[in-house]
Amino acid sequence: MMRTRPLKVALLGCGVVGSEVARIMTTHADDLTARIGAPVELAGVAVRRPSKVREGIDPALVTTDATALLKRGDIDIAIEVIGGIEPARTLITTAFEHGISVVSANKALLAQDGAALHAAAEQHGLDLYYEAAVAGAIPLVRPMRESLAGDKINRVMGIVNGTTNFILDKMDSTGAGYQEALDEATALGYAEADPTADVEGYDAAAKAAILAGIAFHTRVRLDDVYREGMTEVSAADFASAKRMGCTIKLLAILERAADGESVTARVHPAMIPLTHPLASVREAYNAVFVEAEAAGRLMFYGPGAGGSPTASAVLGDLVAVCRNKLAEVTGPGESAYTQLPVSPMGDVVTRYHISLDVADKPGVLAQVATTFAEHGVSIDTVRQQGRPDGVGNEASLVVVTHRAPDAALSGTVEALRKLDTVRGVASIMRVEGE
Ligand code: NDP
Ligand code: HSE
Repeated sequence: MMRTRPLKVALLGCGVVGSEVARIMTTHADDLTARIGAPVELAGVAVRRPSKVREGIDPALVTTDATALLKRGDIDIAIEVIGGIEPARTLITTAFEHGISVVSANKALLAQDGAALHAAAEQHGLDLYYEAAVAGAIPLVRPMRESLAGDKINRVMGIVNGTTNFILDKMDSTGAGYQEALDEATALGYAEADPTADVEGYDAAAKAAILAGIAFHTRVRLDDVYREGMTEVSAADFASAKRMGCTIKLLAILERAADGESVTARVHPAMIPLTHPLASVREAYNAVFVEAEAAGRLMFYGPGAGGSPTASAVLGDLVAVCRNKLAEVTGPGESAYTQLPVSPMGDVVTRYHISLDVADKPGVLAQVATTFAEHGVSIDTVRQQGRPDGVGNEASLVVVTHRAPDAALSGTVEALRKLDTVRGVASIMRVEGE
């Protein structure tokens, strides 16, 4: 039976994502009504700059007082697409206190305060949905929370930031400079309000924390995720990667330890073979591999950023929350029953590509090899060449290791830096996906 009284939606934020949410709600109103079983009405739009012209939005709906909008008594669902910690956190809490379920795209907030927000939603018998917070349009949060709820996820590896993938792809495929590629990604609406969050890996780390929590049924906070950004990745790194048949991607990698007693979560640039499916993920696309005990390997792929793709995920959540409301149920809440500790980065075992500037004289290679051996790091290949910048009496030494703990590699690099013959460590990059 179709309900005629509309479900009323407060849209908190009407920027890159919010404006697309409003557009789709308006243009697809009839389909949404049919799918939900009741009309949904955009009942108010909270923004910071009320005088800004917003195409397709009735100016009478616009307010700068988001709190008053939530408190006025007729709102059923709030969509939070403001971003950042405050005022988003207070507004979501206010929504729950006033019986309003929430859909949010805010990974920064969920990674920092997800536990408290889930608890507040549960306390008030309401929904908190956030498909858009991870990997844009790709259905990933719900498949992991619901479709894989009967399986055991052991590993997740993926590209979860569209901006940095766009930049790395441009640097690799067109030789574009870092700033030029970042400006293009920002203009296309992929980057965060402060793009430092993208390029320094904070955005990917927030998504990694959310995914790790869901995958391993434990609590992983932003601070638990090891993080390195991609601002140091250079044209020389891409040239080195190419020589190895690899490219460079900013990866999020979440792993359950072999004994099942702990997990690791990390975000950093890594070389991956060109034959690996993640190597062909171009522009602002995202892709995530999920390895589950019974299902095996699953890959989720699609647009990872941008207004319209992200709005698709928000609207999917809106439909789900509306259906729950009509059925007088709530969807699944937080599942954190395993309480697994997050191990430090030093425990992670992987391979490394290290580029050193060394004195070009007899015995240097032996000295370097001994340093690796002393720290228990086994060398796979070594390549020596004259410095490309033509610096006399110096050579560039590229060492690729077998798998070793990150702590052992850090110890090796520290010792290498102390050798007179090592003039500098040009780059250290992990090698994944082999
Ligand atoms: P924008 O910066 O484009 O939009 C933010 C909106 O919030 C603007 O409409 C702004 O108002 C409004 N706003 C800011 N402060 C306040 C306030 N105090 N009260 C009311 N409204 C306020 O951000 P995006 O749309 O890009 O991102 C929104 C969220 O979605 C973030 O959490 C982001 O991480 C997430 N996200 C973004 C994706 C993307 O590709 N852009 C993809 C996936 C998630 P005004 O318009 O007046 O400035
Ligand atoms: N800034 C984010 C990105 C938006 O580039 O991936 C999508 O979450």
